[in-house]
Amino acid sequence: MDKFITFEGIEGCGKTTQIKMAGDYLSGTGIPVVLTEEPGGTAFGRKIRDIVLNRSSYDISAEAELLLFLSARAQHVRELIKPALIQNKIVLCDRFSDATMAYQGFGRGLNTDALEAMNAFAAASLKPLKTFLFDLPPEIGLSRAMRRISQLKDFTPKEDRFERETVAFHERVREGYLRIAKDDPDRFVIIDAAPDVHAVFDQVRSCLLPLVT
Ligand code: TMP
Repeated sequence: MDKFITFEGIEGCGKTTQIKMAGDYLSGTGIPVVLTEEPGGTAFGRKIRDIVLNRSSYDISAEAELLLFLSARAQHVRELIKPALIQNKIVLCDRFSDATMAYQGFGRGLNTDALEAMNAFAAASLKPLKTFLFDLPPEIGLSRAMRRISQLKDFTPKEDRFERETVAFHERVREGYLRIAKDDPDRFVIIDAAPDVHAVFDQVRSCLLPLVT
């Protein structure tokens, strides 16, 4: 079974910190692990990330935005994820197809049946073995995310196009994630992301270890 594990959640839920802690933890025990992210993960994906997350792209349509995320995923799966899985590495990925369903489907209101087919096409039908969903009210997540962005140096590109969406948008994304998780309970582990990072990581580690050992 491919050990492809994804980390999902709304802005400021702490998943990026948790995936790094998980990567360090597994590497420390000698387990071969690859950490990657969407959009990103490949040179092509990083270019798309710059287009789609930068605040200067504010007026792109929902459809154009969707196709950019899918395009980045199509390249990511074929260039990086599948080859790593073939080499029996564990792949930890910061966001994947569930993000498209939650943000473009539930958040933007695009047709979720169509998205399911498009996700499968882009991902060559690859599905995560397990998905950690870091759940948290948007007010808390957004204030954490905004604090992080305000601390960035002036010359750092501002990847805050989604953080600038309304709280109502982020509520729909959160509800979308919870709905997707409810429909696929064997794959999802829902983690309360409100406690401190170490308490959250204790929950991640206890679920992660049986998957990889
Ligand atoms: P992050 O890497 O900091 O979490 O930022 C990625 C942003 O892109 C986040 O706001 C969610 C959004 N996104 C989508 O809207 N659809 C997708 O398919 C993916 C992968 C990300």
